[in-house]
Amino acid sequence: MKHLISAKSLTKQDILSVIDRALHMQNVQKERNTRLLEGRIMAALFFEPSTRTRLSFETAMLRLGGNVISTENAKEFSSAVKGETLEDTIRVVGGYADVIVLRHNEIGAAARAASVSEVPVLSAGDGAGEHPSQALLDTFTIAKELGRTDDLTVGLVGDLMYGRTVHSLIYTLSQFSNIRFLCAAPSHTPLPDDLIKFATARGATVEFETNLAKVAGEVDVLYQTRIQKERFQSLEEYEASKGLYVIDESILEKMKPSSIIMHPLPRAGEITTAVDRDTRAAYFRQTHYGVPVRMALLLDSLTTDEGV
Ligand code: NCD
Repeated sequence: MKHLISAKSLTKQDILSVIDRALHMQNVQKERNTRLLEGRIMAALFFEPSTRTRLSFETAMLRLGGNVISTENAKEFSSAVKGETLEDTIRVVGGYADVIVLRHNEIGAAARAASVSEVPVLSAGDGAGEHPSQALLDTFTIAKELGRTDDLTVGLVGDLMYGRTVHSLIYTLSQFSNIRFLCAAPSHTPLPDDLIKFATARGATVEFETNLAKVAGEVDVLYQTRIQKERFQSLEEYEASKGLYVIDESILEKMKPSSIIMHPLPRAGEITTAVDRDTRAAYFRQTHYGVPVRMALLLDSLTTDEGV
């Protein structure tokens, strides 16, 4: 069964084939009546808030001619309130749907779900762990915007400890050649050691820099993230971490003309709206790439036809 639980296990070939298929899906998306997944049902089971991930997965399924059943706010509105375990919920929903898209607040939840599921589970984020479909759409964004996925200097900025999108992105990009990560994180939210080890073991370089302007001047991709307020144990640590790294017009001035700014969104002040006007601001385009990439992932998990 083709689950998507972690980006760690994706090979370069896996990633390139998702990118290829997503490029094709950009055309399919324009046709209004595709029936590639007609009669199939996707369940979106979301225990944490989401706008982009849930709606782009749902859009992807609908664009492929499939159907969607959805529980947002499952923490409050599903049987979890009555004490049902995630495993039981997955067993039940697997009897209704052909694929389950799951977002959960606990690290490891997607793997737990997959271990009992009779249908493919696609992780839409597990707490501060990972967000593999986001990493694939982020990698797709880089491929589309820069025309390459090798030879990149990528600035990773903000909450590198709790930011799950960064974790999964390190896993995907580390599969490529000549990758240099330049990390700028508040002292309370550094990049975890296991990610540094993973990246370096695969030949990527990981460097640390506290001066955002300096990072901006060197990168091809400036990947900004929100400080993940909901994950902090202490409000003081959150307060001390937020607002330290803000991308504004002065940072933009330092950036190469060929570089781009990415952000998984939502933003909470870490990119000023004045930056939006610059063509290097790729974050809204990035959100739109979520649909073809998730179309590719749904097709991949629900069909065996490599030719689609
Ligand atoms: C992110 C998430 O939920 O991890 N958003 C997303 O899925 N596009 C980032 C965040 O919440 O900061």
